[in-house]
Amino acid sequence: MSAPMDSNLFHKLGLKHPLIVAPMAGGPSSPELVAAASAAGALGAMGGAYYNAAAIEAFAAQVRQQTDKPFAINLFIPHSIPEVGADQVERAAAATAHYRAELELPAPQLSAPYEEDFDAQFEAVLRVKPACFSFVFGLLSADHVREARKAGIPLIGTATTLAEARALEDSGVDAITLQGFEAGGHRGIFDAHAPDPEIGLRDLLAQSVGKIRVPLIAAGGIMTAGDIRVALQAGAQAVQMGTAFLTCTEAGTSAPYRARLLETSERRTRTTRAFSGRFARGLENRFMNEMETKGAAILPFPAQNKFTRDIRGASTAKGSADFLSLWAGTGKGDLWQGSTAALIDRLFTQ
Ligand SMILES: Cc1cc2nc3c(=O)[nH]c(=O)nc-3n(C[C@H](O)[C@H](O)[C@H](O)COP(=O)(O)O)c2cc1C
Repeated sequence: MSAPMDSNLFHKLGLKHPLIVAPMAGGPSSPELVAAASAAGALGAMGGAYYNAAAIEAFAAQVRQQTDKPFAINLFIPHSIPEVGADQVERAAAATAHYRAELELPAPQLSAPYEEDFDAQFEAVLRVKPACFSFVFGLLSADHVREARKAGIPLIGTATTLAEARALEDSGVDAITLQGFEAGGHRGIFDAHAPDPEIGLRDLLAQSVGKIRVPLIAAGGIMTAGDIRVALQAGAQAVQMGTAFLTCTEAGTSAPYRARLLETSERRTRTTRAFSGRFARGLENRFMNEMETKGAAILPFPAQNKFTRDIRGASTAKGSADFLSLWAGTGKGDLWQGSTAALIDRLFTQ
């Protein structure tokens, strides 16, 4: 079912399949996964959000050693956040003290900046010149849009509502990922502090098709060839799949994360702010469940993300999934444990 894509963007990229293997920052998107996805005729995507400029360039060089096919780079749009006060950090430290004791970690130190320098990351993207630049959490500034255009890099934004999709279209993007509430990982909501609109993919597509003129990419809970067909029939020009690829051989998913994903085909997920301060969907675990009873101790994004990094790292080192962000979508069924190429083949030959 390799439907030729009728939009110029996907046509220009020369993809064999209307599939983006989702950018998955934090480990799963290894250079091997990105290269394997692109080599198999989909668009592989680097989740570059947590990398500095040098790491983005090194990652891209590793992908290019493995394939000459196009791939995308994805970053998080930064937002100014209110100053995090010493009292807030104290509260967050008290709420997590027993986890750090259990993991034999020292008392936390938290200082700004809480995330990588976006402008430096973006400069690296311009130097790498990927086939596409995708982003999440908001709009790219007019200056950045201009620079990407000048460099000939097409832009893909991410929307969780029709209003966000309209704002992206007006800003000049070439395509929009519509991220349904089913999606694994961070919700792409522009305003990190706003309530989650919780719009499922089917509704989001129905609201957007015919109103948004740029190509739409459907994301959230897509696991099978049948799911892909439904999304394309509903008007999407491509799909973006993350969870389905997390247990592929080439994915950089850590051992305890993989093991938890594979425990059952009925994965229980929900959205939480516990790990990063922004809503994200993942498998239920101890950290998520316990921290949610202490909402006031959760710092704003991205401060909470930096604040919990030592806990997540120590949990991985111990082989425990109790304190890890186990991002996953609502899609059910057994996860694929073979090669990325074999999964893509399966998705488009059934
Ligand atoms: C582990 C993981 C990490 C993710 N990281 C990113 C990211 O860095 N940037 C991004 O735009 N989306 C990210 N996402 C969301 C995906 O782009 C996509 O919306 C989602 O995977 C689709 O839902 P699915 O997981 O049910 O297929 C991530 C998803 C997962 C599962």
